[in-house]
Amino acid sequence: MASRPARGLLARIMARKSVAQVQRETEHSELKRTLGPWNLLFLGIGCIIGAGIFVRTGSAASLHAGPAVLISFLIAGSVCALAGLCYAELSSTLPVSGSAYTYSYTTLGEFAAWIMGALLLLEYGLAASVVAVGWSGYVVSLLGDYGIVIPPHLTGPAGHEIIRDGVPLLIDGVPVIGTFNLPAILVCAVLTLLLIVGVSESAKFNNVIVAIKVSVIVAFIVIGGAIAIANFGELKSNWDPFIPPATGNDGEFGWGGILRAASIVFFAYIGFEAVSTAGQEAKNPAKDMPFGLLGSLFVCTLLYILVSVVLTLVVNYKSLNVPDPVAVAVDAFGPQWAWFAKIIKAGAIVGLTSVVLVLMYGQTRIFYTMARDGLLPRIFSTVHSKYKTPWINTLLVGTLTALAAGFFDINTLGDMTSVGTLAAFGIVCLSVIWLRTTHPDLPRGFRVPLYPALPAVGILSCFALIFTVESRVLIFFAWFMVAAIILYFVYGMHNSRLFHGQDSEEAPDMTELPGPVVK
Ligand code: ALA
Repeated sequence: MASRPARGLLARIMARKSVAQVQRETEHSELKRTLGPWNLLFLGIGCIIGAGIFVRTGSAASLHAGPAVLISFLIAGSVCALAGLCYAELSSTLPVSGSAYTYSYTTLGEFAAWIMGALLLLEYGLAASVVAVGWSGYVVSLLGDYGIVIPPHLTGPAGHEIIRDGVPLLIDGVPVIGTFNLPAILVCAVLTLLLIVGVSESAKFNNVIVAIKVSVIVAFIVIGGAIAIANFGELKSNWDPFIPPATGNDGEFGWGGILRAASIVFFAYIGFEAVSTAGQEAKNPAKDMPFGLLGSLFVCTLLYILVSVVLTLVVNYKSLNVPDPVAVAVDAFGPQWAWFAKIIKAGAIVGLTSVVLVLMYGQTRIFYTMARDGLLPRIFSTVHSKYKTPWINTLLVGTLTALAAGFFDINTLGDMTSVGTLAAFGIVCLSVIWLRTTHPDLPRGFRVPLYPALPAVGILSCFALIFTVESRVLIFFAWFMVAAIILYFVYGMHNSRLFHGQDSEEAPDMTELPGPVVK
C-alpha cells in the first residue's frame, strides 16, 4: 500500500506515485527485452509518418509559408528533438513503461498527471481524428480515379465549403457545403470494432507498414526530384520568392507565416515519443532509446524536407491547399505518371490507417491507466469478458474520434492537436528539470546534454510555437483546460486511489491485453 499523503491542498495535488509504486503496479507484466535499436527506430517512424506530411504540409505551404515550409519543418523538428532528448532521459531514468502521463505522476504529481491526461486526449484522440480526415481525402481521391463518386457534401466538415483541386466545388454555380465527412466516420467506426475484438499488430506487421509508407515517400522524392532537376529552368519560378512576403494578416507568409506553418507541420512529428513507451522492451535502453527517438526524428525530418522541396518545385505552392497534396504534385509529373499517383494514394491510405489505429489504441491505453488510478470512472478499465479489451473505453474513444473527424475541419483539429502536444512536451521538459533537482543521484541511462540549457530551451520553444497558432484555437484550448481543471477538483481529486492510500486497481496491465502493442 502507498502511504497516505498529507492533506494540504498543495501537498494533495502534488501527491506523487513513487517509482517503487509504479514498478510494483507493473511488475506482473514482465515484458521481454526484444526490441533492438532498429526496431525502435522503425517503431518511431511508423508512428510519425502520417497525415502531417501527406496532408497538412499542403495547407502549411499554400496558406502560410510558401516554399519556405521546409524551414518550418526544420524548426518543428528541432523543437521535437529537444523534447525527444527529455523523453530519452525520463525513459532511461524511470524504469516504468508508460506515457508522459506516468512520467508526470512520478515527478510533478497528480495534478500535473491529470493535466497531462487532458493534453494527451488532444495528442492521441484528436490526432486520430485529423488522420482520419486525411485518410478520407485520399480515399475520395482514389475512388474518384476509378469513377466512384461519394456525394461531395458527405466528404467534408459540417458547414464548410467542399474544396476540389484547390478551389471551392460548385454545383450549378452554387458552392457545395459539407454535411459531414462520411469516409472519416466510417474508418473510425471500423477501427474501433477492430480494437474491440483485439487486433494485434506485431513488430513485423509494423515494419511492413513502415516499409510501404517510406517506399512511396522515397519514390516520390526520387521521381519528383529527377523531374524537378530535369526541368529546373522552368520550375525554379515556383521558388521565386522562396519566402513569400507577409500579407499583413497574422501568420500569412513572411517569417510570421514560417512560424505558423511550423506549428502546423509540428503535427507531422507527433508520435516519435511512442518509442519511449517501449522502454521496458528495449534490449539496451540507455543506448537504444536515444537512438530510436532521435534517429526516427532525424530520418523523418530529412524525408519531410525533401518532400517539401519536390512539392513546392513541381507545383506552385498556391495549389497545394487540397486534401491530397502529394497526389496533386504527382499529377503535375505528367499523364504518364497517372499510375504512380494511384500508388501514392494507396500507400498513403495504408499508412494513414495504421496511424489512426495506433493513435486510437494509445488513447484507450491512457484512459485505461487513468481509470486504474481512480482518476476516471471504473468503466474505462472494464475489460470485455471474451475479447479481453477495454471495450466501453474503446467505444467511447471511437465515438469521440468519429464525431470530431466527421464534423470538424482538419485545420482546426490539427491546430488543437499541435497546441495540446506542444504543452505536453513542455511539461516533459519541465519534468526532467524537476527530477534532476529533486533526485540528482538517481541512476540515469541517458542524460540530456547541456543541462539545464536544453530542457529550458525546450520549454520556451514549445510555448513559443503554441502562441503562433490562431487565437480562435488558443481560446478553445484555454476553455478545454479550464474544463479539465474543474473536472479534476470535482471528480479526479476525490476518487484518486493514491489519495485513498491505494495502489492502482489490480487489473491486467494493458500491455497484456490484445492490441497493436509492438513487441
Ligand atoms: N505524425 C502523425 C501524422 O502525421 C500523427 O499523422
